[in-house]
Amino acid sequence: MNISSAFLVLLTRALLAEVCEALNVSVIPGPVAVVPQGHNATLTCRVTQRRRPSSLLVLRWLFSLEAGQEQLIVRMNVRRAQVYGNYTRRFHQPKVSFFEEKEGETYNLLIFNISVEDRGHYTCKVQEITKHHSRWRAFSNGTATTELRGKSVEALLMLDLSAGVPL
Ligand SMILES: *[C@@H]1O[C@H](CO)[C@@H](O)[C@H](O)[C@H]1NC(C)=O
Ligand SMILES: *[C@@H]1O[C@H](CO)[C@@H](O)[C@H](O)[C@H]1NC(C)=O
Ligand SMILES: *[C@@H]1O[C@H](CO)[C@@H](O)[C@H](O)[C@H]1NC(C)=O
Ligand SMILES: *[C@@H]1O[C@H](CO)[C@@H](O)[C@H](O)[C@H]1NC(C)=O
Ligand SMILES: *[C@@H]1O[C@H](CO)[C@@H](O)[C@H](O)[C@H]1NC(C)=O
Repeated sequence: MNISSAFLVLLTRALLAEVCEALNVSVIPGPVAVVPQGHNATLTCRVTQRRRPSSLLVLRWLFSLEAGQEQLIVRMNVRRAQVYGNYTRRFHQPKVSFFEEKEGETYNLLIFNISVEDRGHYTCKVQEITKHHSRWRAFSNGTATTELRGKSVEALLMLDLSAGVPL
């Protein structure tokens, strides 16, 4: 094996390693969260395995019913600005609050006054992006979902007590 082919092997390994290590996104609690009616719930989106320290994250929390269309709850863009989406408009009171808890790693969605209407799937979608030749490019994506569940007040309370969900 000459020098150039050895270099090629190394290069290929490096590329493979990059492809395999995708962004790791998880939602806590998950895959199911049970919250008593009238309580506030905090859903945490945890992002690990970022590939570049200098990268920026674009993050979205989305809501969807079983087979329904996804609705935007909140989006954090490259400037870290928070844009509340469509989803919150149907509530009269402030319904959610979004905040970064641990810089670059945990992003919380606080949902106020849980009711049966809040049942559904909450998805956190993350893109890791960098600027390359003055253009933003996504080079790693990650997604995770949790399901907020409950049929009636009784069922919610019962499940909460038996499961000991810390909320
Ligand atoms: C992804 O992160 C979660 C928690 O943040 C961890 O439990 C899990 O093991 C990680 N997965 C991989 C493939 O590293
Ligand atoms: C939910 O949050 C609101 C606003 O911070 C607070 O006033 C209320 O007491 C909280 N409700 C519960 C059940 O903790
Ligand atoms: C806002 O909601 C309407 C209907 O609920 C939908 O048609 C539209 O695509 C939504 N827009 C965005 C940006 O999500
Ligand atoms: C919580 O939501 C219920 C409806 O699900 C409403 O009747 C009640 O007034 C709300 N409480 C607060 C503090 O907004
Ligand atoms: C990340 O997602 C965006 C849009 O959803 C897509 O255009 C892009 O190709 C994805 N990139 C990777 C590395 O998966």
